[in-house]
Amino acid sequence: MIKRLAVITSGGDSPGMNAALRAIVRTAIHQNIEVFGFQQAYKGLIDNAYIELNSRSVSNIIQRGGTIIRSARCQAFKTPEGREQAAANLSALDIDALLVIGGDGSLKGATKLTEHWPGQIIGLPGTIDNDLWGTDYTIGYFTALDTALDAIDKIRDTADAIDRVFLVEVMGRMAGFIAEGVGISGGAEEILVPERAVDIKVLIQHINQAKQKGKVSFILIVAEGAYPGGASALAQALEEHSGVECRPCILGHIQRGGSPAALDRILASKLGAFAVEQALQGQSNVMVGIINNELALTPMVHTWQNKKNLDPYLLKLQKILSQ
Ligand code: ADP
Ligand code: F6P
Repeated sequence: MIKRLAVITSGGDSPGMNAALRAIVRTAIHQNIEVFGFQQAYKGLIDNAYIELNSRSVSNIIQRGGTIIRSARCQAFKTPEGREQAAANLSALDIDALLVIGGDGSLKGATKLTEHWPGQIIGLPGTIDNDLWGTDYTIGYFTALDTALDAIDKIRDTADAIDRVFLVEVMGRMAGFIAEGVGISGGAEEILVPERAVDIKVLIQHINQAKQKGKVSFILIVAEGAYPGGASALAQALEEHSGVECRPCILGHIQRGGSPAALDRILASKLGAFAVEQALQGQSNVMVGIINNELALTPMVHTWQNKKNLDPYLLKLQKILSQ
């Protein structure tokens, strides 16, 4: 029987982490479980920095971006000594289960903690990147898409008005899910992702073909990891090779902020409650997720070891719909 639960939000923060915290705290309290929020992720576990969370601590946060217990990237947790210290602190506080909300790095860290600490560990997918195996969507992805899309729609106005090629850089160092999502929903002429090599000659061909067909604007969505140096370097290379004026626009960290979209709030509420229920059922070393609209559990190690693929149908569609 679980009496005490700890929670952290880790790695790159994402809109909806607060909504997940709210769901975790209130589901746990409903089951008479005490909840402790460790601050700044694994750093807080090592430093023993925590606060007790009650129903009122999570009032009025469902609509807020960021995370009230803060996040961090913590190098010390990558050492066995750091994880030993974290495990000792969890044991000293009599924690039965730890919930980790974060991306692939955070869940890798969670997997490693199981070697040091005997309690239950459950992961929740919290990242705008949507690159975790074992869930169709991660908490924060939908909001990041809406934020980027808002900017892309504005760029389309100026692109339509003046003869230039725009390269919009979105987040995604290792994965192109944001680029794919906004590329389709923003009607981009081209989507460049880390998963596929960029060929400048082909890009120039596409720009010329589009012009011949009477297109007056051309927007390329560039995931930050798609080309060395990102959209700025690619804009320079394209301009040099084609003679066409190119403008890069880097959306950056605005994609991580803002009030979570309804779909992220719903996903976070569902996964937060489900994680507590699964902890009560005795589950451990798994991540909660959503697959084909059903709540699902995936062994934690698979979530970061397996590579989630982009949707090939969407990428094919983009070529046809952008003509
Ligand atoms: P994200 O979870 O958003 O992918 P990171 O990759 O930065 O973010 O990982 C977040 C944190 O998870 C790291 O700062 C570190 O504390 C922990 N972590 C990542 N990889 C490992 C690892 N191999 N071993 C232990 N901890 C790790
Ligand atoms: O949150 C995920 C992510 O936004 C990645 O897309 C990006 O590569 C990385 O975090 C950048 O974050 P930071 O500037 O915090 O290292």
